[in-house]
Amino acid sequence: MKPAKQNPAGPRQAPRVLIAEDDLDRRIAELAAEIDRDYADSDRLVAIGVLKGSVFFLVDLLKRLTIPVAVDFFQTSSYGDSTEPGEVRIRKDIDESIRGADVLLVEDIVDTGYTLRTILDLLRWRGAKSVRLCALLDKASRRQVEVPIDYRGFEIEDLFVVGYGLDYNEIYRNLRYIGVYEGGA
Ligand code: PRP
Repeated sequence: MKPAKQNPAGPRQAPRVLIAEDDLDRRIAELAAEIDRDYADSDRLVAIGVLKGSVFFLVDLLKRLTIPVAVDFFQTSSYGDSTEPGEVRIRKDIDESIRGADVLLVEDIVDTGYTLRTILDLLRWRGAKSVRLCALLDKASRRQVEVPIDYRGFEIEDLFVVGYGLDYNEIYRNLRYIGVYEGGA
């Protein structure tokens, strides 16, 4: 996430805790158990993350699965101002063929829904057997296009969240918790 105005000195203030590390761990273990059960009979499961934000969540989620799973990544960007997204561009495509595969799309956050809507449509068009979405955070009040979330970690308010993959100007992705960025250097 790019802030409207960048601070060259970089942020210093530790973001306020919104979802603590323990709560993330507990919820991710629950999601993994559900996914493990649901895909127990799958012939081919491919988990796909959307760079960069989803990486921390994807790794922790997949490490808890006991079923075989392939991993791949998309990277996207929106045309125009990132705070007013619209048309989504694929900057890095997946390497794997997903024809006939069960695809689990793994995301850190669903905001307006444009990114996930675009990717879900693309995966279906390419012939995936099934496509489901697992999102850690759901900022439902910001939604502009409908996106069904099959596995949801937490619904959150419209706050500028950072940590556990989410950034402010590329900083804070490595926090162990989800925090709220409240400005200040
Ligand atoms: C975030 C997030 C999703 C997208 C969701 O990525 O990881 O991919 O925005 O927003 P939407 O629902 O409004 O489409 P971002 O573009 O900030 O890139 P990053 O993951 O590299 O930080």
